[in-house]
Amino acid sequence: MVSKKVEAALNKQIVLEGESSQFYLSMASWAENQGYVGTAEFLYRHADEERQHMLKLVRYINERGGIAKIPSIAEPPVEFESLTTAFENLLKHELKVTAEINNIVHTCLEEKDYTTHNFIQWYVSEQIEEEATARGILDRIKLTGSEKGGLYLFDRDLENLTGGSISVPDAGK
Ligand code: FEO
Repeated sequence: MVSKKVEAALNKQIVLEGESSQFYLSMASWAENQGYVGTAEFLYRHADEERQHMLKLVRYINERGGIAKIPSIAEPPVEFESLTTAFENLLKHELKVTAEINNIVHTCLEEKDYTTHNFIQWYVSEQIEEEATARGILDRIKLTGSEKGGLYLFDRDLENLTGGSISVPDAGK
């Protein structure tokens, strides 16, 4: 059985994962309308993954005798200035998610809830990957600049990216 404190921490994380999903969905829709088809595909997939992260928490809380709360989610931005700002926002958001996951780890240890501590390790690992992916994409955009041919290749590469890292060419070569 989860304690009230752990239940509250996990319910808070449901909100954040739900916000992530809607945020990436909004970015995907924006990218699609800008003609960045590959980027849109990547972000649509990512939005689905975030929904799975949320669902995993809902089911875990209920399984452990708590009550999962399904929240209403604030409307994400509709417009993004550029691909760079969109992915800068994404990285910022992921850093916030990581910080919150770390807080949950802390709460689990305080509450001596080693079962939830074990469960949350999946999210700890996932965040390492998500941050690395976001940083890789941003590095790649910065190297590409606004040059059309480069952006076309970037967009095509992103379409096939299923997580993990994106290859970033060495700037000096
Ligand atoms: Fe589920 Fe990207 O955090």
